[in-house]
Amino acid sequence: MGSMARKVSLTGIKPTGEPHLGNYIGAILPALQLADNYESLYFIADYHALTTIRDRDLLRHYTRSVAATWLAAGLDPDRTTFYRQSDLPEVFELSWVLSCLTGKGLMNRAHAYKAARDRNREAGKTDLDAGVNVGLFNYPVLMAVDILIMEADVVPVGRDQVQHVEYAADIAGAFNAVYGDRFRFKVPTAVIPDEGSAHTLPGVDGRKMSKSYGNTIPLFVPDANLRKLIRRIPTDSVPVEEPKDPDSAAVFTLLERFGTPESVAETRQRLLAGGMGWGEVKAQLTDALIAQFAPLRERYETLMAQGSELDDLLAHGADKARKQTRLVLERVRDAIGIG
Ligand code: TRP
Repeated sequence: MGSMARKVSLTGIKPTGEPHLGNYIGAILPALQLADNYESLYFIADYHALTTIRDRDLLRHYTRSVAATWLAAGLDPDRTTFYRQSDLPEVFELSWVLSCLTGKGLMNRAHAYKAARDRNREAGKTDLDAGVNVGLFNYPVLMAVDILIMEADVVPVGRDQVQHVEYAADIAGAFNAVYGDRFRFKVPTAVIPDEGSAHTLPGVDGRKMSKSYGNTIPLFVPDANLRKLIRRIPTDSVPVEEPKDPDSAAVFTLLERFGTPESVAETRQRLLAGGMGWGEVKAQLTDALIAQFAPLRERYETLMAQGSELDDLLAHGADKARKQTRLVLERVRDAIGIG
């Protein structure tokens, strides 16, 4: 992809949970928009998920579910490259090569590893590496390989992943310093799409929607469950007939994002005037979400069905991606004196 005129963007998606509205607005949509201006690659980082997921059915489910979600959200597999990390053996071969060029001290300072040690320290354990597998420790090397093997220029990530992209840049530099006269990796930069308020979505408690806060609205729930979930969003207890402050309630902020401008303006007036209860706003929000996401959900269900085109799409994506990974690995092997 280095030979192509457009710059390359690469997005890795770790299949470890059910996608929620916050992911959709904060990560999926902005990453999909990059395809207008970049040669765009999207992949499912299923081997990264193995550092935490031990249930084979669950790993399989999340992998398919994340793939189906991105396709349903508008990822165009003809215009972009969409694949599964585990379909590219070159990624794992390059992992070894690059781990030999990565300082262990750099890895000791990686946020996720340090956080695991901090948790052990707080729990009073004497072995700070208790429960830490080497996969978790090596996680940043594998991620650097994901990025470098595709010669990505930009990597859209959440704030928590910026350090990993910086590590990829460091590791590229380490390789280039030794072997740069024969092959040079491109040095990537992180872009953070969810910085602007346009990309952040409040959760049901008003804080940023995030799995770690337990305040998410899943993208694909049956209508009845969605209705129940929205009904549970906490609101103040101002009586129906009294005026209310629309901007004090997460449910109204969410409605602003998904309702039509006219209906949102009208609801704002009615809340300010008094006589409208939060229950009605919740019903409006549920209807707005159902209207907006019904087509997406339908496409998702179709892709999730056994025997759908999903597996073929991923296999085709892997073929496309391997043209690039084979090329890079061949040059790396030549550069280091193997093969
Ligand atoms: N670590 C990323 C996350 O947890 C997922 C990921 C794996 C990734 N490889 C990547 C992201 C390469 C960007 C580029 O979200």
